[in-house]
Amino acid sequence: MPDLPHPDIQGFILRTYAMPALRVFALKAAQPVAAKKFLGELVNGARNTSDAPQLATATEWTVKPPYCLNIGLTYSGLAALGLSASSLASFPEEFAAGAVGRAEQVGDIGESGPENWKGQFASTDLHMLLFLFAQDEDVLEKVTTRLRVMYSSSGAILELSVHEGRRLPESKAHFGYRDGFAQPTIEGGLPPAMPDVLPKAPTGEFLLGHPSQYSDFTYPVPIPPVLGENGSFGAFRLLAQDCHGFEQFLTEATAKTGLDREFIAAKLCGRWRNGVPLSLSPDGPGEQIPMEERNSFDYVPSDSVPGAFDDTRGYRCPLGAHIRRMNPRHSVVAGNSGLKRRIIRRGLPYGPSYDPSNPDDGIERGLLGLFIGVSLKDQFEFLMSHWANKGSFAPGLRSTRDPVIGDNSVSDAAFLIPVEGQRRPLELAGLSRFVTCRGAAYCFLPSATAIRYISGLSSSLSSPLP
Ligand code: HEM
Repeated sequence: MPDLPHPDIQGFILRTYAMPALRVFALKAAQPVAAKKFLGELVNGARNTSDAPQLATATEWTVKPPYCLNIGLTYSGLAALGLSASSLASFPEEFAAGAVGRAEQVGDIGESGPENWKGQFASTDLHMLLFLFAQDEDVLEKVTTRLRVMYSSSGAILELSVHEGRRLPESKAHFGYRDGFAQPTIEGGLPPAMPDVLPKAPTGEFLLGHPSQYSDFTYPVPIPPVLGENGSFGAFRLLAQDCHGFEQFLTEATAKTGLDREFIAAKLCGRWRNGVPLSLSPDGPGEQIPMEERNSFDYVPSDSVPGAFDDTRGYRCPLGAHIRRMNPRHSVVAGNSGLKRRIIRRGLPYGPSYDPSNPDDGIERGLLGLFIGVSLKDQFEFLMSHWANKGSFAPGLRSTRDPVIGDNSVSDAAFLIPVEGQRRPLELAGLSRFVTCRGAAYCFLPSATAIRYISGLSSSLSSPLP
């Protein structure tokens, strides 16, 4: 078991904060020297006499703090802050290309393309994202005011845009599914928030400088090591959700098939809208299944769940359902890579709950999502390109795409529901692109030590955080 320096690792990598509010600041380091000073103040630790908000690390806590602040830096941000050419060159090419450069690979085309992004996400001026999670609105405002005073002084940092995420009733995401069950448990990390039956993910699948999920392989660490070690990468996504289109699709599919509307909704996601997985409750929403058991399942018998129903063919949970595509667990997929593409999910919905009695309210709603892994290419991008937007990775998917997040703007878009005793699956046509990308950024998530390094406070490298 690795002995991880928890006080040095950004908190949102290793823990789910489960806070009701999130404000994401998209920022430009207009005055690099002053911007570096600002960064340094966020990791002042014990020397913090200025009441400056502090970076949240993965230090163990007994009481949840009122807010947690985390940082992501883009490639152009690292360049603007003055990293050397050799250091910049040591970052992976997909990170250097950024979300704009890699848009096609992940299906950010057409309406989802960078030319349509808002909030200046497509600009190379986007240097930094601040993620401020808060327990209540009062704290959110107070910390925001403090941050703004700090970073606007001497024009250090310009706000390009600000994005608000809020927990919806019953912790549901838009489209009405309860979220917050499945997250990888990391070797050497913190105990999982929800019981997790799957094998622990090797530390190096999520943190730079540790052995990865591939034997004898550690992902290259950006140099100098003080900068790269114990950092990670994240793909931030502003994802607009077409709730009306999604519900319309359910209405039409219900009318065409005669199946129960909620049953179809469950087949698309792999979970009933209350979060109960189809694998545990194939015929009905299984309300009696306790919350803490709703992530204890597999698609085939495995060491994790020896008694699991053998759902190789997807009679319970279709192979194309969102959660089975995004984490096939022990089911067979091309390259047997099922448990080697894990991803940490952070974020909150934005916009008010969808009201079916007022479908055309003109309000944009969706998800502020951050998808974390040590390799954007092998985790986030692989999921989007191979598992969400192609069907060739598992038998029987034909050319279908993820029904929730896939680019189903293609004319032959379909979703397949395998039915026991029938040779052909039930085919639902009429999907559309229910999720549109409205902005994205590839971020490096540096350790506290690395932030001190970047800020130029190299003399304090060895000072501990509280
Ligand atoms: C607006 C967009 C999205 C919606 C509405 C959505 C919805 C959901 C829901 C309802 C769940 C089940 C809750 C849970 O298992 O904790 C889930 C799980 C998951 N989603 Fe998404 N999702 C979205 C985007 C994405 C994206 C972009 C990715 C990948 C890059 C992704 C990857 C996953 C993964 C890995 C799981 C957990 C699967 C498991 O381990 O069983 N999702 N999502």
